[in-house]
Amino acid sequence: MCGVVGYVGTRNAVDTIISGLSKLEYRGYDSAGVAVPDNGDFLIVRAVGKLDNLRKALKDVKTTATAGIGHTRWATHGKPSETNAHPHKSTHIALVHNGIIENFSELKTELLGLGYKFSSDTDTEVLAHLTEEYYKTNSLLEAVRLTAARARGSYALTVMSAREPDKIVATRRDAPLLIGIGSGEYMAASDIPAALDITRDFIRLEENDLAELTRTGVKLVNKDGRDVHREPFHVDWEPEMAEKGGFDTFMLKEIYEQPRTIVDTMRGKIVPDEGKVFFGEFDGLVPSIDKLERIVLLGCGTSWHSSLLGKLFIEKYAHISVEVDTASEFSHRELPLNKNVLVIGVSQSGETADTRNALRLARARGAVIAAICNVVGSSISSEADYVIYTHAGPEISVASTKAFTSQALTLFLLALWLGEKREKVDSKTTSGLLLDLLRIPDKIKQLLDNKDEIKRIAEIYKDTKNFMYIGRNFTCPIALEGALKLKEISYIHAEAYPAGELKHGPIALLDDSFPVMIFAPDIKVQEKIFSNMQEVKARGAKVIGVFSERNRANFPACENQIFIPDCDKEEMTTFLTTIVAQLFAYYSAQALDKDVDKPRNLAKSVTVE
Ligand code: F6R
Repeated sequence: MCGVVGYVGTRNAVDTIISGLSKLEYRGYDSAGVAVPDNGDFLIVRAVGKLDNLRKALKDVKTTATAGIGHTRWATHGKPSETNAHPHKSTHIALVHNGIIENFSELKTELLGLGYKFSSDTDTEVLAHLTEEYYKTNSLLEAVRLTAARARGSYALTVMSAREPDKIVATRRDAPLLIGIGSGEYMAASDIPAALDITRDFIRLEENDLAELTRTGVKLVNKDGRDVHREPFHVDWEPEMAEKGGFDTFMLKEIYEQPRTIVDTMRGKIVPDEGKVFFGEFDGLVPSIDKLERIVLLGCGTSWHSSLLGKLFIEKYAHISVEVDTASEFSHRELPLNKNVLVIGVSQSGETADTRNALRLARARGAVIAAICNVVGSSISSEADYVIYTHAGPEISVASTKAFTSQALTLFLLALWLGEKREKVDSKTTSGLLLDLLRIPDKIKQLLDNKDEIKRIAEIYKDTKNFMYIGRNFTCPIALEGALKLKEISYIHAEAYPAGELKHGPIALLDDSFPVMIFAPDIKVQEKIFSNMQEVKARGAKVIGVFSERNRANFPACENQIFIPDCDKEEMTTFLTTIVAQLFAYYSAQALDKDVDKPRNLAKSVTVE
């Protein structure tokens, strides 16, 4: 799980590559490196740690190269170190890699037998030497093609030869790689933001495709070496959309983007006055909707939590049974599936290996496969039969925020669409819900305007070692998501439970050092959850209650209260309680001076199982 870049054009290659890598650090940041051609050899600079360390190492390096490759790493084989950092080199070849080469030991034995010397503990180095070996009698493109054909596992590669300093060869399998098409300049990169400085036109390489980039254009071949054409696509993202836009961190920027991303997610999908929801992307499903036996939602982490919300929405409005599983566990189950089961993978990146593999398995067992993704052209979206994009824009912060609300909203709209097609929900009900939904962006803005109160409370609890989050019904997934956010970025231990479960065990943990955040905005469950609050207080635990504004007058006594704007429909409170949970985690981490955008041990896009 790393970021790769390869650039050829007219700009200073090192600067362009570093700028590209800075947009890919979310994919890994334990070391980084660049290679540019230098008088028949390579100038290679690598550094352990974040990209800034590489910038420092490059400070006094002078080069006029206008082509090169670069890498930001998340270690899989070999600890983070300068020798394990990419690019890796053989005599004439320099190469960077994202993925895992499963048969690297076997290839290494063969290459050692041929006299190659290894200087790293990585699986990647075999690819550099093998390409060198094939390059003795083949073009660079052909040498990479032959190397890729020998590799088992996943890879996105950018490769250069010191003998051909104006050429990059790129290829991929089970790892993302796009080609940015500029004017007289081209960039192969793991993700779109890396190339936005030079273009908004891209080609997505299909599995096993190879691209040869020179200043005069891009040649594409498939795994058999035959010329292929891939349709370019255009993205509207402004380069600054991938930047921090004046916020201290990407995470805060992305939390603040939610009033807009919510609108972008529903854009073109709803006519509130008529109570209509459109999902053109799923139209192909319409003839078989009545035969649908059930839906299975799969995701990981935050996307699993949004799936849990999706289950509640779909069951309520479409009256279809929904199962939710973490994608990694789904792969171990022997769940009977057939063509009347719709399996939907939910993924921000569209590259999560657990989700992708679970979907492949579901397809092999006969289910219809759909995806809810944020990244256009991602692996999961390319493989699914039906895709809905969430249109939340690039999410750079490792901790997911705006992707969650966009996924939850997409699932909510899907529930209404399915409900209408199955005649389980009438247009009046849908209209009421959609009109309430339209008010959500402004209510989020109101909450964001009151962020100081959440910040103040977070600062009170910053030295707490443990936290409990509880909710009921629609706030249960929010409790899970809130606890995940808190542990990910502040490293405070946090547990989340359905409020009713507390008394079945976890309440044993509680005392005056173990505060409880209780989400109770929604009238239907308030009575029960207020009883849970009494149980908690009786154990001496401090309570932070998240209530609706309308309850300001009669909320039960607790140490701290956070009020969200009122909503007519209980479902809508989920979008607001989510913002509270995100801000609370954010300000807790900030109070502890943590690197919010790049929490330890994590990476944005988890492309290994
Ligand atoms: C949490 C987080 C992760 C991701 C998970 C799935 O803040 O970001 O838990 O949600 O790795 O990623 P996607 O949605 O890209 O499949």
